[in-house]
Amino acid sequence: MSSIMENILTQAKDAREAQLQELIELLRIPSISTLPDHRPQIAEAAQWLAAHMKALGLEEVEVYPTERHPVVYGQWLGAPGQPTVLIYGHYDVQPADPLEQWQSDPFEPQVRGDYLYARGAADDKGQLFVHLKAIEAYLKSTKCLPVNVKLLLEGEEEIGSTSLPQFIAEHQELLQADIVLISDSHILAPDQPSIVYGLRGMTYVELQVQGPDHDLHSGSYGGAVHNPLGALATMIAKLHDEKGRVAIPGFYDRVRPLSESERAELARLPYDEAAFCREAGISATWGDPDYTALERLGARPTLDVNGLLGGFTGAGAKTIIPAQAMAKISMRLVPDQEPHEIAQLFESYIKQITPLTVQSQVRAIHFAEPALLRRDIPAMQAARQAYRAGFGTEPLFTREGGSIPVVTLFKKQLGLDSILMGFGLPDDRLHSPNERFYLPNFYRGIRSSIYFLQALTEEG
Ligand code: BES
Ligand code: ZN
Repeated sequence: MSSIMENILTQAKDAREAQLQELIELLRIPSISTLPDHRPQIAEAAQWLAAHMKALGLEEVEVYPTERHPVVYGQWLGAPGQPTVLIYGHYDVQPADPLEQWQSDPFEPQVRGDYLYARGAADDKGQLFVHLKAIEAYLKSTKCLPVNVKLLLEGEEEIGSTSLPQFIAEHQELLQADIVLISDSHILAPDQPSIVYGLRGMTYVELQVQGPDHDLHSGSYGGAVHNPLGALATMIAKLHDEKGRVAIPGFYDRVRPLSESERAELARLPYDEAAFCREAGISATWGDPDYTALERLGARPTLDVNGLLGGFTGAGAKTIIPAQAMAKISMRLVPDQEPHEIAQLFESYIKQITPLTVQSQVRAIHFAEPALLRRDIPAMQAARQAYRAGFGTEPLFTREGGSIPVVTLFKKQLGLDSILMGFGLPDDRLHSPNERFYLPNFYRGIRSSIYFLQALTEEG
């Protein structure tokens, strides 16, 4: 290893305490994108990052307003002739509820053992911070980076990145690059890095069922009025068949079949179903028996009810037939399903299964396209090399069940391929109480990012 590289790695290693404290500062800002009353905190997180990026030595740092939440941008273009990497991350987080299930305050980060606990610790503040700290190590020890770097941090990932298409369209020139790097996923196990080459897409809808035009006494009306909660439950029950497959006609029509070679490759991954059950707190897995759990997670589409609303849910008893009921439903999609078409199929099926005694309405909330990424590009080799150097282990390739809407936007609008180089773990409890980030991999992530930027030059 060159002594320059050694200096940079030492610089990063010696700064660990500061890296952790700064990340904690960022995690204290409750930048929850979906809650309208958290707008000021979203703005605060964006400003915090912009100030931090300026202090690191990034240039043209700016907070760009959008229709909803701002985009933070910064760059360092002092390596003419070298490739340009566009690093993407998101500073928005999911709501923290149910609050009572957190062992420590979600926005008062706490280190317990090897983990840092906070909302956003792994998704995605901790992971985007990895790259800021790698850049810092370079700039502090050598005043330069081996490649050109552009950073784009958004505040709407958790709500479908709805302002990004317009932002990208209006800043085509600014965002020109050779490759996109995203750390917003997890690796297979603490010592087993993995590169995600597939993400599921998403159609998210709200299904509203309307019964009587006001709540009714369940004694005076029960038996003669269809209860919208009951109607909704019947409808939800019709969304899957008895084997756990989605029952919407046409839902699977465009699903690209898994090839035998891909099935064989997935089967070789070190996947422990018992450990998966333990981590999820379930006694057995569920779903289409024609596919393994790992195939169902990464390469098959799903439909899930995320929440139900209706009627009386307070303490004690109240006797009513509620006027309305509502379900929040997400469908995870795989290539070549089209999110808008899936919304239409959902809506026509709902029309068909809505009892005549109630009215239903479907409202689409957001969409994300599924993605399958190229594995034969040089930057992929750079990522492998970086993981090998950072973790001491050859990475494996996996398909992920989650969604990152921007991946297809970058491909469609800028022609850019993405590398998904995550540093989280499967049991980080994303979107759930007690979200955490495994700190040894925060530091190994910084090392890997340092190696990645270097490897891009050698490969590029
Ligand atoms: N980091 C996740 C995506 C993810 C989760 C990747 C697990 C790999 C493994 C991201 O922040 C996320 O939660 N995305 C949303 C997107 C949706 C709102 C369109 C998701 O998947 O629910
Ligand atoms: Zn998330």
